[in-house]
Amino acid sequence: MVNNTFLWGGASAANQIEGAYVTDGRGLSNIDLLPHGEDRLAIAQGRMPYNQAKADAFYPSHESIDFYHHYEEDIALMAELGVNAYRFSISWSRIFPTGLEDTPNEAGLAFYDRVIDLLLENGIEPIVTICHFDVPKGLMDAFESWKNRQMIAMYEKYAVTLFERYKGKVKYWISFNEINMILHKPFTGAGLQIDEATENRQQVIYQAAHYEMVASALATKRLRAIDPDAQLGSMLAAGDYYPYSANPEDVLVAQRANQENFFFLDVQSRGAYPRWVLKDFERQGIQIDMTEEDLALLAENTCDFISFSYYASRTSKADTSGVDTNTGNAAGGVVNPYLKRSEWGWMIDPTGLRIVMNTIWDRYQKPLMLVENGLGAKDTVTEDGKIHDDYRISYLEAHLDMMKRAMEEDGIPLIGYTMWSIIDLVSSSSGEMSKRYGLIYVDRNDAGQGSLKRLKKDSFAWFKDYISK
Ligand code: BG6
Repeated sequence: MVNNTFLWGGASAANQIEGAYVTDGRGLSNIDLLPHGEDRLAIAQGRMPYNQAKADAFYPSHESIDFYHHYEEDIALMAELGVNAYRFSISWSRIFPTGLEDTPNEAGLAFYDRVIDLLLENGIEPIVTICHFDVPKGLMDAFESWKNRQMIAMYEKYAVTLFERYKGKVKYWISFNEINMILHKPFTGAGLQIDEATENRQQVIYQAAHYEMVASALATKRLRAIDPDAQLGSMLAAGDYYPYSANPEDVLVAQRANQENFFFLDVQSRGAYPRWVLKDFERQGIQIDMTEEDLALLAENTCDFISFSYYASRTSKADTSGVDTNTGNAAGGVVNPYLKRSEWGWMIDPTGLRIVMNTIWDRYQKPLMLVENGLGAKDTVTEDGKIHDDYRISYLEAHLDMMKRAMEEDGIPLIGYTMWSIIDLVSSSSGEMSKRYGLIYVDRNDAGQGSLKRLKKDSFAWFKDYISK
C-alpha cells in the first residue's frame, strides 16, 4: 500500500521545540506569553488576560528543547530513523519580529535556510506549517490579532516572503495548524483575548476565523503564482463526534458537533460557507465582516490537500447530566465507555482513525495527509539509559494498522503520515515536558531543568523498522 512516494515522517511546531525565543532578533509571540501551570488553560481560552499570570510564572516555550541550537543533531537522528518527510512550522516572529516590519529579519530566515537545506541533503521532504499557534505579540498589540482585517495583509506579507525564499525547496505548505482550535482555545490558536463583559465570544471567534480563512485563500493564490509546483493544505484537528446512543437527540447533537468541526474544511475545501452556519449567525445576531471579494477569494482558491491531526474520537450526548465529561481534550464531549484512555484522559480509538479518514474523503475528495498522531505519556529512563515505551508502540501500531486498512480496503488516498512528535517537546495544552510524544527522549523536566541530551526510545527502532517495510 505504502509506495515509495508515501511521506513517512515526524511533526513538530516551532513554539514547542525551538526555544531561543529572543535570539537573532526574534520577537515575542502569543505562545511565549502562555505560562506553565494553573493559569495556562484560562489564558489559552482567551478568558484571562495573559498579563495577569503570576509574576513568577515559568514560560516553557522560551527554551523548549532548544532545537534552534540542536537542529543538526536532531536532523541526523531523523535521517537515522529513515523518514523521508518532516513537518515543522516557521516562527512568524522570527521572520517579522513584531509582524509590522516591511522587510524580514534575515537572521531568522537564515536559520530556516539551514534547516531546510539540511533536510533536503538528507532526502527529507520539508512540510512547512506557516502558522502553528503563532502570532507576533506586535500584531496583538497593534490589531488585537485576528480581530482585525489588517491581519490578512500581515499574513500575506509573511507567507509571500516564505514562498519566494523557499520556492523549489518546499513543496507542501500548511496555512494554519488546527484552524478549528480557535473555537476552543482562541488565544493559543489565534492570539485572541476576549473580554466577555463587552464582547460576544462567538462573534469574535467566527470573525477571526473568517479573516484567517481569507488569508489562507489569499496565500494559496499567491503560492500558485510564485511556485506553481507547490501545494497548500488546510489543517484540521480531526476526530468524528459519535452519538452517545441511538437516541435521535444524541444523534442530532453529534451531527451538529461534526458540522461545527468541519465548518473550516467546508469553507477551505468547498470554497463556501455552509448554510447551517449562516442560519446560526442570524439566530445568534452574529454579523461577520465578509465582503464580495472575500467570498470570491474563498471560492477560487480552495486548498490543494487536506491535512489533519488525529489523536482521539469524540462523543456527544444531548443530556450530559450524570455522565463523565472530563475527556481531557479541548474538543469536549463526554467519555466514551467503550474506549481506553491515555494518562491524560484522551480517548484511545484506532478505529476512529479509519472512520475519520472515510468521513473526510467522503466530504471533500481531496488528497489527505495525516500530519499528527501519537500518544502523550510519561516515560521512565532506566539506569542504562533506555526507555521501554511499549505503550507508545502499541498506540502507533494500532493506528497505523487502521490507517493502512483505510487506504487498502477503503481506497482513501493518503499521501503521508507524520507522527507527533518524533522528538519530545513542550505539550501545547499543559505546557509540560512530562507529557512526552517523541520517539526520541529529551532530558528536560517540567521546570525546565535537564541536560537536553537526546536518547532513542524503544519506539525509535520499532518505527524505523515499520516504515522500512
Ligand atoms: C495538537 C497540536 O493539538 O496536538 C500540537 O497541533 C499539540 O501543537 C498536539 O502539541 C498534542 O497536544 P498536547 O496538548 O498534548 O501537546
